[in-house]
Amino acid sequence: MAEKFFDYIIHGGDYNPDQWIKTPEIWDEDMRLMKLAHVNSATVGIFSWAALEPEEGIYNFEWLDKILDKMHENGIAAILATPSGARPAWLAQKYPEVLRVEENGIRNEFGVRHNHCLTSPIYREKVRNINRMLAERYKNHPAVKMWHISNEYSGECHCELCQQAFRNWLREHYHNDIDELNFKWWNGFWAHTLTDFEQINSPKSRGENHITALYLAWNRFLTDSHISFYENEIAPLREITPHIPVTTNFMRHYNGIDYQKFASHVDLVSWDNYPHWDKGKNLDEAFEAAFLHDFFRTLKKGQPFFLMESTPSQVNWHDVNKLPKSGMHELSSIQAVAHGADSIQYFQWRKSRGGHEKYHGAVVDHCGHENTRVFRDVTRLGQTLEKLGKITGTEVKSRVAVIYDWENGWAVDAFCGFNNSRRDYVSETVKWCAPFYRRGINIDVISMQDDFSEYDAVVAPFLYMLKDGTEERIEQYVKSGGVFAATYLTGLVDKDDMCFLGGFPAGKLKDVFGIWCEETDALPENMPGKAEFGGKLYDINHVCDIIHSNGAKILGTYKSDFYAGMPCVTKNSYGNGKAYYAAFRNDSDFADDFCRMLIDENEIKTDCGIETADGVLIRKRGEYIFVMNFSDEEREVTLDKEYQNVITNETANGKITLPVCGYTVLR
Ligand code: GLA
Ligand code: ZN
Repeated sequence: MAEKFFDYIIHGGDYNPDQWIKTPEIWDEDMRLMKLAHVNSATVGIFSWAALEPEEGIYNFEWLDKILDKMHENGIAAILATPSGARPAWLAQKYPEVLRVEENGIRNEFGVRHNHCLTSPIYREKVRNINRMLAERYKNHPAVKMWHISNEYSGECHCELCQQAFRNWLREHYHNDIDELNFKWWNGFWAHTLTDFEQINSPKSRGENHITALYLAWNRFLTDSHISFYENEIAPLREITPHIPVTTNFMRHYNGIDYQKFASHVDLVSWDNYPHWDKGKNLDEAFEAAFLHDFFRTLKKGQPFFLMESTPSQVNWHDVNKLPKSGMHELSSIQAVAHGADSIQYFQWRKSRGGHEKYHGAVVDHCGHENTRVFRDVTRLGQTLEKLGKITGTEVKSRVAVIYDWENGWAVDAFCGFNNSRRDYVSETVKWCAPFYRRGINIDVISMQDDFSEYDAVVAPFLYMLKDGTEERIEQYVKSGGVFAATYLTGLVDKDDMCFLGGFPAGKLKDVFGIWCEETDALPENMPGKAEFGGKLYDINHVCDIIHSNGAKILGTYKSDFYAGMPCVTKNSYGNGKAYYAAFRNDSDFADDFCRMLIDENEIKTDCGIETADGVLIRKRGEYIFVMNFSDEEREVTLDKEYQNVITNETANGKITLPVCGYTVLR
């Protein structure tokens, strides 16, 4: 059993009662409706700075006192937010340095949110101050169960304070030695040799934007500045409320902050999930959501995570905001629980009457009552979550890992060469996770720095960059019996994007895989090549490595171009383990066929014995088995033995029928 924060699944979401301060009767109606919807928690104060401190040093906590009291009286837990995500107008007016400077060098005006400098000492002080006031006032309030720090940290500032901080960061990371930096960034190229750290600026379109190492350093710096901004925010909370756990909500597909680094600073990982259901094939969307859940869960392995935001209906920020069909929200939420979530929460509880997000889905619509499709969906889910309460704290265990490394993602996006039109690191990774999801095999999504030794197999799509020690750790892992599979463009550069010499993949990996890569070809979208594997012909899409076997067994060969007849899929025995190399990208079913072979050959077992059906995903969490139908049709699944249906308490055996969006939870 992992650490758990509640004995029940948290069901609730962002609640902005300060928007309704002039109509407090709505607050009472909120309490009635929350109980009706089986909502047991609400996150308050996220964007409340102007309501809490209407003028500098003048505070108004009365409304929040009342709301927290009401929530407590009604059995609703409070996740209390710090308000730094959006600063009040007076603060920006009096201290312009708190506003962000864009990449073009121009300071923003007051407006939007996340529009603050992360370095500004004044902003940091003001944030610390309001957070201290909140902590002092509510340290013993019985409703307050968790801190929600700021909101979706993101963005960058290019002001002079940030430039200086960046230069200091570089001094620290390159031993205050400009020659070391020149060497690692290969600055002799284009006469970029620097003589002083003061000559460096953040990457900009009108300045330096062709050095990947600078881009990597800037992203690492931004990650560190967000962490230090966050540490500054939580300092008074740690001091005054050490008993209250702290989280901050991470974002789906935001690549600006290295969450694999940030995660060690939070007590609990939480994130915001907005899949685009019913826009295309829901199964594809489900694979991506599954990958994201596993990524965020693995950030703190062994612990559950919180789903901090989702929409019970549509969002307002796609070009076209399709309503998901009934049942989709419930299935989507159950999928989160199956992957380790101990909470399902929404943005937001009640639709705003005005402002930018007034048409974003919420539990309570502008009509104000409970007689809506969405409200009924949420209520039904709330009842189900209550029945699943015992699952909280239960771990997801996996014997297979897929590497998705944040910094590698930055490098993959940034380098110039081969195929510049398509890199798709996220979707390429999802492609290599999906075969395991299809077969009911749990996976962890790890970074290249995580421990491989506990896994039977590790799959590493597009592992272009190798950070210090990775080469050796892969070698050790395979030598001692591990199964490691890599794809095209593996092991080209170090952490500063400098190429390894002596052939790819780097160093010892040539022995581990028993191959070396001589050239990499790029293929135009409409001119795919051909490759053969297992008697089947596949398109080569976008990119492929032209490899030679140095002892690896050849499992497939190219069928087109001047490299026809050369290997495209290999397997090598090394020490007690095996290393596979899939040298080309294919955008249809090659990854699935390859993984089927990997699973069969290495006898990787599914995590439960139930044979799945097309479009049905099966997932094991602790003793619980989730069977979820993401296909567009009714599906039948045959159980391998007798189970108990956790939701109905009935015995389940034989065939079960799942309607579209249907699911069942067994144990
Ligand atoms: C984010 C934010 C919320 C809201 C939603 C809308 O996740 O955290 O405040 O803007 O998006 O989808
Ligand atoms: Zn700044």
